Amino acid sequence: SDKCWQECMDVAVQIARRAGQMVRDAVKQEKRVSTKSTPADLVTEADNQVEELIISTLRERFPSHRFIGEESSAAGEKCILTESPTWIIDPIDGTCNFVHSFPMVAVSIGFSVRKELEFGVIYHCFEETLYTARKGHGAFCNGLRLQVSKEKDVSKALILTEIGAKRDPKTLKIFSGNIEKFLSAPTHGVRIIGSSTLALCYIATGAADAYYQYGLHCWDIAAAAVIIREAGGVVIDTSGGPLDLMSRRVVAAGTQEIASFIVQQLDPISYERDDHY
Ligand code: IPD
Repeated sequence: SDKCWQECMDVAVQIARRAGQMVRDAVKQEKRVSTKSTPADLVTEADNQVEELIISTLRERFPSHRFIGEESSAAGEKCILTESPTWIIDPIDGTCNFVHSFPMVAVSIGFSVRKELEFGVIYHCFEETLYTARKGHGAFCNGLRLQVSKEKDVSKALILTEIGAKRDPKTLKIFSGNIEKFLSAPTHGVRIIGSSTLALCYIATGAADAYYQYGLHCWDIAAAAVIIREAGGVVIDTSGGPLDLMSRRVVAAGTQEIASFIVQQLDPISYERDDHY
């Protein structure tokens, strides 16, 4: 099976590059934008087309595998992780960026076997950078080995987060409160780039020291979790316990020290689980 998962990963890389080309073509065209769970949760025809390309290609190649995709889930397919080999796909991460041609958009493909993440592939569509990692084999960006930041001192940390789709006053108050805490900790700064998967890749490269978010989905974390861990980093639940892919929350960092600090400071925002059925 070792050889088999490597073959799957090679296919994932090819398909991520093809999907990225589709995104580069689509960004020049007029976009038809609709909303999903909230007015800030966007989807375009391109999201559906790219997901269709990825899943149909993979299904043909690996007919016994299971698929969890952002847009298939929005269309009502169940988002449940089983022991079976499962592809976890975000066709366009950073849809709002895509709509505005803000160049932080990625294709994310994760793969799990027996509920364990085996590999992750994330393609930055506009920069054409490819992030890859396979469990036990290291993390790479365009073939160069990645290493997380070794920073332990929060006062020297750059922290990334994302907003999530809920924008009601109560949620925004907690969200802003969390940012305020990290700005006054003090830290060097807090950034929001509009793509959870790319923000997580910047933890893997060491460009930032920590990431936290409430409201992301399993397809935003699956591939990135392998990439960060293989780059030597920590990916955990906001409670400090083990990551729960379906829980809609995460803390990632280069070191356990910074991860623990983030965990201690955070006020939680609750989102319905991905597997809420
Ligand atoms: C979203 C983006 C956004 C983050 C959300 C994600 P999508 O993914 O990464 O920055 O705040 O939590 O779901 O909808 O663009 O694929």
